[in-house]
Amino acid sequence: MGPRIVARVLTGRPTADGGGVRLTRVISPEQGMDPFLLLDEFDSSDAGDYLAGFPSHPHRGFETVTYMLDGQMLHEDHLGNRGDLKPGGVQWMTAGRGIIHSEMPQQVAGRMRGFQLWLNLPAVDKMKPAAYQDLDPERIPTVALDRASVRVVAGEFVALPSTGRSPVAGPIRGGATTPLYLDVALEADATLVCATPAELRVLVYVFEGEAALGSRTITKGTLAELGPGDRVELGASRAARVLMIGARPLREPVVHYGPFVMNTRSEIEQAIRDYQNGRLTDAA
Ligand code: FE2
Repeated sequence: MGPRIVARVLTGRPTADGGGVRLTRVISPEQGMDPFLLLDEFDSSDAGDYLAGFPSHPHRGFETVTYMLDGQMLHEDHLGNRGDLKPGGVQWMTAGRGIIHSEMPQQVAGRMRGFQLWLNLPAVDKMKPAAYQDLDPERIPTVALDRASVRVVAGEFVALPSTGRSPVAGPIRGGATTPLYLDVALEADATLVCATPAELRVLVYVFEGEAALGSRTITKGTLAELGPGDRVELGASRAARVLMIGARPLREPVVHYGPFVMNTRSEIEQAIRDYQNGRLTDAA
């Protein structure tokens, strides 16, 4: 095993979702990024782009991970959870059989910037009770390296060579897809090498500056899907910031309809019926 090289490059496309929030859709379910279903980036200093927020809506069958970089949003759900999402904070929501929630901006001006990732669940977990974790910025460890720093949201960060260094674990660990979620900041002329378990699909999304992966330069707003390997070697000739995310593919059929992601068409029809009958979130 060696370093992962770039297998595919994608750029996001502008769209709107929720009450009419303008965002960039970097991954959508049709792209076959198992177990990643969706990655949205939102970044605007124009309140008209985000004020409508994401009023009450359901989810079934997967997880949503919201990472806030600038601005503030309030999450409220049918379980009574309330979470104020602040810059640097994360909301890790496992919809399981059903959650009904809203995600609304808590500001009328200023920059709103962050990401929402949809991570699929295996068939065996799709109908589990919903769960929610609200992670304040202080709960996310930051690893300082030579000309680089890494915030570890999920999984373990293992810098290479590992001699004399311990892995740093994020607050989210394990789970069906054993996700890795890192926010990597690189200064000019930085090089960062880290271990990524061979069974993970690994993606790198550049959201500031540009980064090098082998001989490829990945510019701002570009996603690189990496091929097989057991490590990632990132470089930057000028300052850059990237999300590095990894997760174990599920290799199960995916049927997606709006906010529901199941394995079969009949399970989707059931989800729609349950939602219409007010039973989406009922205990099994
Ligand atoms: Fe949602």
